[in-house]
Amino acid sequence: MLVFENVTVRYGTFTALKDLTLELRRGELMTLLGPSGCGKTTTLRVAGGFIVPDEGRVLLEGRDITSLPPEKRPTSTVFQNYALFPHMSVGENVAYGLRVRGVPRAQRQRRAEEELERVGLSGYASARVQDLSGGQQQRVALARSLILGPAVLLLDEPLSSLDARLRLRMRAEIRELQKRVGITTLYVTHDQEEALSISDRVTVMHDGRLVQTGTPREVYFSPADDFVRDFIGDSFPYTLDGRRILLRPDQVVPNADGPFTGRLLSREFLGASLQWLIDCQGQTLRALLPSRSEPEAAVGSEVRFSLILNEE
Ligand SMILES: Nc1ncnc2c1ncn2[C@@H]1O[C@H](COP(=O)(O)OP(=O)(O)OP(=O)(O)O)[C@@H](O)[C@H]1O
Ligand SMILES: [Mg+2]
Repeated sequence: MLVFENVTVRYGTFTALKDLTLELRRGELMTLLGPSGCGKTTTLRVAGGFIVPDEGRVLLEGRDITSLPPEKRPTSTVFQNYALFPHMSVGENVAYGLRVRGVPRAQRQRRAEEELERVGLSGYASARVQDLSGGQQQRVALARSLILGPAVLLLDEPLSSLDARLRLRMRAEIRELQKRVGITTLYVTHDQEEALSISDRVTVMHDGRLVQTGTPREVYFSPADDFVRDFIGDSFPYTLDGRRILLRPDQVVPNADGPFTGRLLSREFLGASLQWLIDCQGQTLRALLPSRSEPEAAVGSEVRFSLILNEE
């Protein structure tokens, strides 16, 4: 559906995207995940037509759109701060794209109502934007983006200005809406849990390069390299049979029949889970246990455990 072909972007002498090749499938939600400065927003801007790459091409359904300006391409971008128009009502914000295209007032009002209903804001058309909550403003921004029926939806950290609880709710809502509308979506985040929970596929970026593209389970269970393993999920270094590996706490499973023995250094209650630190011949391992089924073990005592070493 949307293809980046060997895309390179430079800001002056700094290369922000290096030979990026990436393919979005029709109807999928792909997240771009990576640390600050790795080139996520730059990639999104290239997709939206706000940056023309220095090298490479962007194709939409086989058509070269590399130099097509934003308003001429069937993409729609939701910016991090939503960029709603404060002097316009909710309905006028949503209908904005139609007004620019000269759609008559009655028709665009009706379409705005439909879009507002789709994002769960029926009856809000005449409300003032500044009277809405953060989550509601987020929905207005989505409705405004969807009204022109874009082929690709581009979202840049859409939840970053919301509080933690609302973030969880909105990410489920965005996912549900995206599936219902069936719109191909590129979604930027630096939150790995968010990426794992909403994506069909995740693309991990590092220093302007694509490191790995895969399903959430693939990037979690079969990371391409130590950067991905370290960035996605929690991990710690461990030397086993003379080889240094990165282990995740969920690979360390305390159980009475386990082949490994260690000494319990500490137990930390985290709510739903507990973290154990286990000393094993001078190395410290971390284990995560469901807190309601914690085996009985006193700090300082000997514990047995298994290591799950094969990836999924
Ligand atoms: N207009 C610009 N001029 C010069 N350098 C820029 C410009 N825009 C971005 N950069 C640099 O390019 C790199 C990639 O920026 P980009 O905004 O794509 O990162 P990002 O992955 O979105 O990061 P964040 O998670 O912080 O939003 C960064 O090092 C940034 O400082
Ligand atoms: Mg960014």
